Amino acid sequence: MNPLFLICLLFAPLLFPHWTPTTATFASGVGFLSTSSRWVVDQSGRRVKLACANWAAHLDPIVAEGLGSRPVGDIAAAVRSMGFNCVRLTWPLYLVTNASLTSVTVGESLRRLGLAESAAAVAVHNPQFVDLTLIQAFKEVVSTLDRHDIMVILDNQISTPGWCCSKYDGNGFFGDTFFDPNEWLRGLQIMAETFNSSRNVVGMSLRNELRGPKQNLVDWYRYMQMGAEAVHLVNPNVLVILSGLDYDKVLTFLSVEQVELTFEGKLVFELHWYGFSDGGDWENGNINEVCANISRLMMVKGGFLLKQGFPLFLSEFGVDIRGYNQGITIS
Ligand SMILES: *[C@@H]1O[C@H](CO)[C@@H](O)[C@H](O)[C@H]1NC(C)=O
Ligand SMILES: *[C@@H]1O[C@H](CO)[C@@H](O)[C@H](O)[C@H]1NC(C)=O
Ligand SMILES: *[C@@H]1O[C@H](CO)[C@@H](O)[C@H](O)[C@H]1NC(C)=O
Repeated sequence: MNPLFLICLLFAPLLFPHWTPTTATFASGVGFLSTSSRWVVDQSGRRVKLACANWAAHLDPIVAEGLGSRPVGDIAAAVRSMGFNCVRLTWPLYLVTNASLTSVTVGESLRRLGLAESAAAVAVHNPQFVDLTLIQAFKEVVSTLDRHDIMVILDNQISTPGWCCSKYDGNGFFGDTFFDPNEWLRGLQIMAETFNSSRNVVGMSLRNELRGPKQNLVDWYRYMQMGAEAVHLVNPNVLVILSGLDYDKVLTFLSVEQVELTFEGKLVFELHWYGFSDGGDWENGNINEVCANISRLMMVKGGFLLKQGFPLFLSEFGVDIRGYNQGITIS
């Protein structure tokens, strides 16, 4: 058995004492979500546990991945059958702010990237998508997920369509080449408004993994607060989810100063945590000691928010399972 898997099974209850591997079904009655202290709850105040799968739609073609492999409904059913009740659906800002993309269809977008085979494959598995515009296709994915009782968190992954993230990709922080704060606020509002009547769109992550040489706290507070207000103004139903600095590994600064918003009951924070960010400790150290150390560290980086009365969404986590070293070989 994978020792790290074992460790993390032991470890999860420490960080999330009320977490169990079962997930609530998102049935029609659940309604929109809000927060109650550190919990996310439904309209009748019952706790809703988000168990989300990531589905990427922020890559170069701006088309949800996999539509060339299986019918969209099959993908949604597979997500559900694996026990997830939610999808974190990623989108690039350009999807809604770049005028040259407004009328581009799924087929055209794939073909102009030289992906004629993918376009043909989409025509086989999801023919109804080929002539949809990119935003229509994105909406169709969201409503398909709804038909399968799957909640959606819209995650603004990046501005320019493509793989995310590096410090110098011009997408890292407010003011970077492709990250104009006003364009971002406009894009958030368009998305929030577009999905204002989609009952399964329960949250919006305002921006994935802020990072890079420009990152600073003054702008973090200024723009994250503005982003949260902008979304809430046009779509008061969704949870607004704020990510931290340094690739969303750090929210420590919130222990000193909280964000100030005009509304309540909708604010969630998110944190990312990958084993490979721990500087080789898992491979080199005594694994029990490393586990204790990293658990402590995670509480300092963001776990303390639970005690402050905010939900914390662990929106990306993982270990390198390519088998490069003993510690993480799955056998
Ligand atoms: C819009 O997108 C195209 C294609 O990705 C890009 O070349 C162009 O620079 C973008 N325009 C703006 C105003 O961001
Ligand atoms: C959603 O936004 C549209 C466009 O602004 C608006 O006409 C509509 O009333 C809104 N619907 C809800 C449920 O807020
Ligand atoms: C755990 O933390 C302690 C105290 O900071 C340190 O002395 C020790 O080397 C760390 N152990 C590992 C395996 O990282």
